[in-house]
Amino acid sequence: MATNAAFEPYEFVDGGKVVGIDAEIADAVCNKLGYTLVIDDMDFDSIITAVTSGKADFGMAGMTITDERKQSVDFTDPYTNAVQVIIVNEDEDKVAGADDLKTAVIGVQLGTTGDIYVSDFEESGAKIERFNKGADAVLALTQGKVDAVVIDNQPAKAFVAQNEGTKILDEPFENEEYAICLAKGSELTSKFNQALSELKSDGTIDKIIKKYISE
Ligand code: ARG
Repeated sequence: MATNAAFEPYEFVDGGKVVGIDAEIADAVCNKLGYTLVIDDMDFDSIITAVTSGKADFGMAGMTITDERKQSVDFTDPYTNAVQVIIVNEDEDKVAGADDLKTAVIGVQLGTTGDIYVSDFEESGAKIERFNKGADAVLALTQGKVDAVVIDNQPAKAFVAQNEGTKILDEPFENEEYAICLAKGSELTSKFNQALSELKSDGTIDKIIKKYISE
């Protein structure tokens, strides 16, 4: 499994081990199929290449299904939903919603959907700062180097909890679905879908998600 373990609660390092919702769902899928899960932690930007080159059998990293990605990989059925949100400093007065991003300095994690969405705003004068980790984008925010960070809602909550003086704007941005990506035409995809569907029906996926997300 190729992942980027800097994305709590989906994948993060705890006690030297990659844990989180994705790690546990992947483990449950592999158990069902009789595989041993091995996790390879890399930059988010490298996951699709790891999968297309065969270095990894699958990628799972809170990864959103997009048409562009579908041109290089296959996705399983979605296993959960997410939404992009905007993080700002508590005393921010310029950025109060998505519209204000059009002229802001925006921090994102390189190659994520947050990056893709705000890239459209470059035409209208926004400046995009791309970081390898979401945490580095949030650090830049606390240092006043960017006006806002666009990132998935659950990691955003974790980052805001860890960085005093930051907050998430009420206005959500884009709705997304997370799925596992595999090499195009991989015979694993239907097996993974079968396993996911069983883990959905028997409540395992819900249980794993609830373990990490309280509301
Ligand atoms: N959902 C977003 C995307 O697919 C962000 C995922 C970032 N994941 C990570 N493990 N860093 O582009």
